[in-house]
Formats: sequence, structure tokens, C-alpha cells
Amino acid sequence: MRFAVAQSGGPTCAINASLVGVYEAACELRSHTHTEILGVLHGIQGLLDEQFIDLDKSLSDADNRALLCRTPATALGSCRFRLPDPQQDDSIYKKVRAILEKHGIDAFLYIGGNDSMDTVAKLSGWLAEQNSPIRVIGVPKTIDNDLTGTDHTPGFGSAVKYLTMTLSEIIRDSAVYCVPSVLICEIMGRDAGWLTASSCLLRANGETAPQLIYLPEGEFTVEGFLNDVREAMKTHKSVICAVSEGVTPPDADLFRSGVSDAYGHAYLSGIGKYLENQVRSEIGCKVRSVELNVMQRCSSHLASATDLTEAAACGRHAVTLAAQGLTGRMVTMQRDDNSAEYRITFSDMAAKDAANYIRTFPKAWITPAGNQISDEAISYFLPLIQGEVLPVMENGMPKHFRF
Ligand code: F6P
Repeated sequence: MRFAVAQSGGPTCAINASLVGVYEAACELRSHTHTEILGVLHGIQGLLDEQFIDLDKSLSDADNRALLCRTPATALGSCRFRLPDPQQDDSIYKKVRAILEKHGIDAFLYIGGNDSMDTVAKLSGWLAEQNSPIRVIGVPKTIDNDLTGTDHTPGFGSAVKYLTMTLSEIIRDSAVYCVPSVLICEIMGRDAGWLTASSCLLRANGETAPQLIYLPEGEFTVEGFLNDVREAMKTHKSVICAVSEGVTPPDADLFRSGVSDAYGHAYLSGIGKYLENQVRSEIGCKVRSVELNVMQRCSSHLASATDLTEAAACGRHAVTLAAQGLTGRMVTMQRDDNSAEYRITFSDMAAKDAANYIRTFPKAWITPAGNQISDEAISYFLPLIQGEVLPVMENGMPKHFRF
């Protein structure tokens, strides 16, 4: 079998572990069948430009694979590229098929989030209609944790680990002065507040902060936010607020750029700074905002060992599905709710059922006031951040893998 593997969408700390999982599982097939594994640079966009690389050259070395697992971002590069509706225009599909056939590819594995599963669903569906034997399988990833059908997504646990570590350090820093203060932390998550909500985990270590947590799933007004802050300041000298970038007050156009990516998703940024200015002018206390920005998805020095292990297993499972002749499937993780211990099994679902759907944070876990997360969420989040992964250091700095 000849595999091609690519990465797509926003990066995570675990997406390269999935690539290693794909590579290792495909290599294991070599004992009973001739197998080749090609990497594709820059996702489906790079495929259209025939940007293939031979993964054996560097990944046959176990040290390189271990280093790649500890390397953030997409080592193969990424893209945000939407395939057109094949009913309207299938010229690009014909081109993709011709390229896959030219390079003798039997299975194309795509590691990505919601939009990438759209590519898996459309491409696999079109190829099947054409009676092509080429299989397309999706491997999930996203720090947003918003893919349906899976308990959680690879990349999320590491982002949560970074967030909780950073917030706990911010909490210490914010406590040093005698004056009342407010700190607003802006956290990624375009459409769903899973990552922001996970800041409630700090309660498991006895913290009272963040005292206020706001998700895109709830109603949000600046007036309501200021009232909540005033109330919290009555009992806390230092008030920490975790705010999702996706929170959209009615006056959001005052701070949003209006710029979108190729998928039409707005670039979200600025709510933290906007709220900082509101607190300064309306409450008048010491106030800072921190936008965690890309650090929350590329801080592999704080990756979760559980996350990297599961990400690799998802990659492995995708190879198994392709080898079984399946197509149009996305790997999923299922948690055994009946077990006292955290247990995950790997399964699969139709990629079309994951594509373009958003799994929002459960409303039942948001408190009635809409500004806190209930304790039930803690047991959901906690297993995902277990285990440390030490970075490989060189000259006192992290060493990363590069193709
Ligand atoms: O992949 C998800 C995500 O990290 C969102 O949380 C964020 O809004 C978006 O990607 C940022 O996209 P970009 O990498 O294009 O800036």
C-alpha cells in the first residue's frame, strides 16, 4: 500500500504525534505487505502542487520521531483551503485524483479539524462515486475541542495544560500588590468555549480564580461583565477573568478587524484589550489583559503526555481503517463512563457527520449566572492533562524537528 499523509488547519502541540503514529503504523504493515509512506506539504493545497516528500528519509530514525512528537505546529505545513461543492464544479477533484493516481497513492490520511473533515468527506464521497479505490481517512485535531462524535480532540489536552499552568502563574503575579486589580485573559476557541471553560480546573488545586469565566455559548454584554467584576471585587482583591475570543458582545465591531480566513472564519482577537479599556474607564482600578494567542497551541514544553499518546494512537488507528479498505471515516475517541479509571477506546465515524458541525460546551455545565463552570466539568477535563513531556534541549533552548 502507498499512503500519503498531510496536516491541515490551525496547529496544535499534538498534531505531529499523530503524524508519527501514522508513520509507525504504516511501517508495521511492511512485515506482510510492501508499504510506502509519503508526506504532503501544506495539506490539500500542497497536494495540488504535488509537494510530496519521502518520510522514510528522516522518520526511519527513532530519535527523529521522538523529537517530532515534541515539536509544536504542523511539521508538514498547513493550509486553510475549502474544496468546492463537487456537484457545482468537480475539476479540482479530477486533478486531485489524477495526482494521487500518478503517485500511486492508495490511501490519503488527513490530520485536521472541522474544515479538514469537510475535505475528507467531500473527497472520499467524490472518489467513491467515481468507483475509485483510493481511500481518504481523517485524523482529528484541534485545540478548540469542538469536533462532534469524539470525547475530545488531540491537541486540546496540551492546550489546557498550558492554559492552567499559565493562569496559575498569572494568579500568583496578580496577588502581589495591596491595590485591587483585574486581569482579563483572552483564550482561543472560535465557536466553542471548551478551552476557556477548562480554566475551572484550577479549583482542583484549591484556587478560587478565575472568579469569572465567559464562553461564546453564553449571552455576553459589557454592562453585565462590568457588574460581575464589581461584585467579584467585593470579595477578591485580585479578580481574574477567563474570556473566550469567541465572546461577542453587541458592540463587537468596535474591536474586531472584520478580516476572515479562506474558510470565511473571522479572525478573532481583541476582546481582552477592549474589556481592559472598559474596566479602566468604568471601574478605574488597576487592570491588565493578556491574550494567550498562538502560545496556547504551540507551547509544547507544557504538552500533556496523555494528549501526545492519544494523538499518536489516533494516527495509528487511521492506518488500520485505511488498511481495512474503509474511506470517508474520521477516527474518534470514546471514554468508558462506567470505569472508575480514565479509559479511551478508538473508533470511527463518517467524516461528513463531523465536518462543519460545532460541538459546543454543554450548557448544563455553565452556571445559571453564565459566568462560571460547574464542578462536573473538572472530572471531564482532569484526565486530559496528565503526564509531563520534557522538551529536548540544546544550548539551553528547545530543539525542534524540521523536515
Ligand atoms: O484551529 C482553531 C484555532 O486555533 C481557533 O481557536 C482560532 O480562532 C483560529 O484557529 C486561529 O486561526 P489562525 O491560525 O488562522 O490564526
